[in-house]
Amino acid sequence: MRSFLEFELKGKRVVKRVDINSPLDAQGNPVINPRIRRHGESIRKLSDAGAKVIVLGHQGRKGEEDFISLLKHAKLLEQVTGKQVEFISSMDADKIRAAVGRMQNGDILLLENVRMWEDEEGAKPWESEIVKILTPTTDLFILDALSVSHREHASVVGFMKHVPSAMGPVLRDEISALNSIGEGELSLVLGGGKAKDSIKIMGKWLKEEKAKEVLLGGALSVLFLHAAGHNVGDSYEYLKAEGLLEFEKQAREILETYGNKVLLPVDVGLNIEGKRVEARANAVEKGSIFDIGENTMDAYAERLLGARKILVNGPMGVYEKKGFELGTKRILEAIAESNAYSLVGGGHTITAIEELGVPQHKFSYISLSGKALIEYLSGKELPGIKALKENLKVHGALKVA
Ligand code: 3PG
Repeated sequence: MRSFLEFELKGKRVVKRVDINSPLDAQGNPVINPRIRRHGESIRKLSDAGAKVIVLGHQGRKGEEDFISLLKHAKLLEQVTGKQVEFISSMDADKIRAAVGRMQNGDILLLENVRMWEDEEGAKPWESEIVKILTPTTDLFILDALSVSHREHASVVGFMKHVPSAMGPVLRDEISALNSIGEGELSLVLGGGKAKDSIKIMGKWLKEEKAKEVLLGGALSVLFLHAAGHNVGDSYEYLKAEGLLEFEKQAREILETYGNKVLLPVDVGLNIEGKRVEARANAVEKGSIFDIGENTMDAYAERLLGARKILVNGPMGVYEKKGFELGTKRILEAIAESNAYSLVGGGHTITAIEELGVPQHKFSYISLSGKALIEYLSGKELPGIKALKENLKVHGALKVA
């Protein structure tokens, strides 16, 4: 696929899809994190090359608590790029066109959260509002986030039907790192809240013998503990609310078929009235499961120290809450200490690495992607990547110069 470096960028209007979707702090604000830093750096490079950089990104999902404006992200991007980042909150087509029209070479303009457009997730991404507004003045579209490439959304694939497109440096680096993980021998560490995504890949990789073992934490471990017949206390309500109970049959089948390859917590850190209480996994009566327990940490850490290839996706517990960061910290430290090729993914995992002070240079690669990473590694062709290839066929001969 074509890289943006092949283009003469000075004076060109470049629409760039990044992923600055970030975990929010206790006050509901995004903070500087690896996504903001790496995308900020690539935006700065485009601006330095004299392009007029129109940045598209999202935050959260409609209806969820972290679905907010990108106003504060603009400030963070200013900090990391050292440049002014104009933010336009208006969704009015004329105002957007006018803001684009005012841009000088090297200017950076961030538009509002693309998921605020009704048709961002519509059936015809190439006919969406934002694509219609920007296409007539766009010289080049750059897809720069593997982490959104699994979404057939307007801001991801819509422009590529119309304008010459290229992959950006963040996407390019992600792909080359993921390609180096190869086949088999993988110790898969799965945690976090996106249990529905993780269970699919877990079953598939165990079947295909891609993963030699799976170590469970986070929401997925609660689901499996319940599937194994354990009482999970108040976490049962969580499983119900998140629609995870319908995956219980699948979890039970995985345990029956690959039980010796699936490591479940033997103990857990319970949240009882805000305090951490250790309990054996088969003796939970009240409280919610917020972390793996201390004996589980020891067992997982020992296993990981002897592993050859590790992929970790999602934290082991609710690390944002004091007292419940222990499992996540211990496991990430064990992975950092091991001699394994270690690939880390998931927006929350990378933020946890920063916040918990685990040395980043000790991981082989820290990916900015979560679900997209898992889908990419499972061999699925991601819509964003497919669209880039198709765009190259159509616009391959064109030179944006
Ligand atoms: C992520 O955090 O994995 C990406 O920003 C994609 O977000 P999504 O899962 O809400 O599409």
